[in-house]
Amino acid sequence: MKNIIEIENLVKIYRSPFLRKKVMGLNGLDLNIQAGEVFGLLGPNGAGKTTTIKLIVGLLKPTSGKVLIFGESPGLSQKRVIGYLPENPHFYTYLTGLELLSLYARLFGIWNKGRIYEVAKWTKINYALHQRISTYSRGMVQRIGIAQALLNDPQLLILDEPLSGLDPQGRKGIKDILLKLKEEGKTILFSSHILPDVEMICNRIGIIYRGKLLNTGVLSEIADMEIRGFEVQCRNIPNDIKSEYPERIQRGEDIYIYLHKEDELNDFLKRIIHANGKIMGVVPRKKTLEEYFIEQVEGR
Ligand SMILES: Nc1ncnc2c1ncn2[C@@H]1O[C@H](COP(=O)(O)OP(=O)(O)O)[C@@H](O)[C@H]1O
Ligand SMILES: [Mg+2]
Repeated sequence: MKNIIEIENLVKIYRSPFLRKKVMGLNGLDLNIQAGEVFGLLGPNGAGKTTTIKLIVGLLKPTSGKVLIFGESPGLSQKRVIGYLPENPHFYTYLTGLELLSLYARLFGIWNKGRIYEVAKWTKINYALHQRISTYSRGMVQRIGIAQALLNDPQLLILDEPLSGLDPQGRKGIKDILLKLKEEGKTILFSSHILPDVEMICNRIGIIYRGKLLNTGVLSEIADMEIRGFEVQCRNIPNDIKSEYPERIQRGEDIYIYLHKEDELNDFLKRIIHANGKIMGVVPRKKTLEEYFIEQVEGR
C-alpha cells in the first residue's frame, strides 16, 4: 500500500521571540498514513496535534525530521490535492456563505459555480448560503469549513478538531459527513481530544502525547486488548463466600463484587443462589477507549 503521509522523527521546536524560550512542539514523531485510511490523531490539549497538521500542510517548517506528502515535501504543489480545515476556523464574517465559498473556489482556480453548490449540498449548508457567516452557529461554520476543504475534490482531507465545540446535534452532522467521505474512499486525517468521537469514524487511531506518537492501532485490535469484567450487585452473602472475593465494595446493604471472567461469574452466581443470597444486578464492565487512552497517557 502506498503511504500518502510519511513522517519520520519529526521535531518542531518553537522559539518565543520575546521570552527567548524554547517550547517543544513535536519531539520525534513517526507516522504513516496510507491511501483510503481514516486516521484519528488523538491526544490531550497541547500534545502536538495542530503542530503535526501544520507541518503536513506546510504552514510550519520542521526543526528536523522528515515529512512527505504524496512522496514530496509539503508545498504549493500539493495544494490541489489536499483539503484542509484549520482548528477554530475564522472566516470573514461579513461574507455570505456563497461569497466565502466563491472566494476559496477562485483561490483554487475553480470557476465552476456548480461545484460550490455541490459541496454546499453535500455538507448540508446549502440552505444558508445567502446568510452572512456572522449569523452562523458553530456547527454551520464547521460545515462551511468542510465545504471549503472539499471544493478541490482533494485526495487527502486534513481536519483539525472538526468536532470540537459542537453540541451533540452539530457533532452528529459533522460525523455523518465524515462517514460519507469515508464511504467514498477518501483518505482522511483528523485530530480530536475526544475519544468517542473517533471510535465510530476511524479505522486507525494514533495517540499523541508530549509531541510523540505513543501508540497506533486498528480500533478492533485495541478493542481486543480490552479486558472484560463483571460487577455483581448482591445482598445477604455469607461471610465465607464474601471473603473469597477481594475486589468488593460495600454500599449500604448491597455489596458490589468485581469478577474478571465469565466462568468466574457463572460460578459465583450459582454459589450465591445456592446460599440463598440475593442478586440485585449484573453489569458487564468493558475497558472503554477512554480508559485505554488514560492508561496510555498516564503510564508514561
Ligand atoms: N506558535 C507557538 N509558539 C510557541 N509554542 C507553541 C506554538 N504553537 C504551539 N505551541 C506549543 O506546542 C505544544 C503543542 O501544541 P499544539 O500542537 O497546538 O497541541 P494540540 O493541537 O495537540 O493541542 C504546546 O506545548 C503548545 O503550547
Ligand atoms: Mg490543536
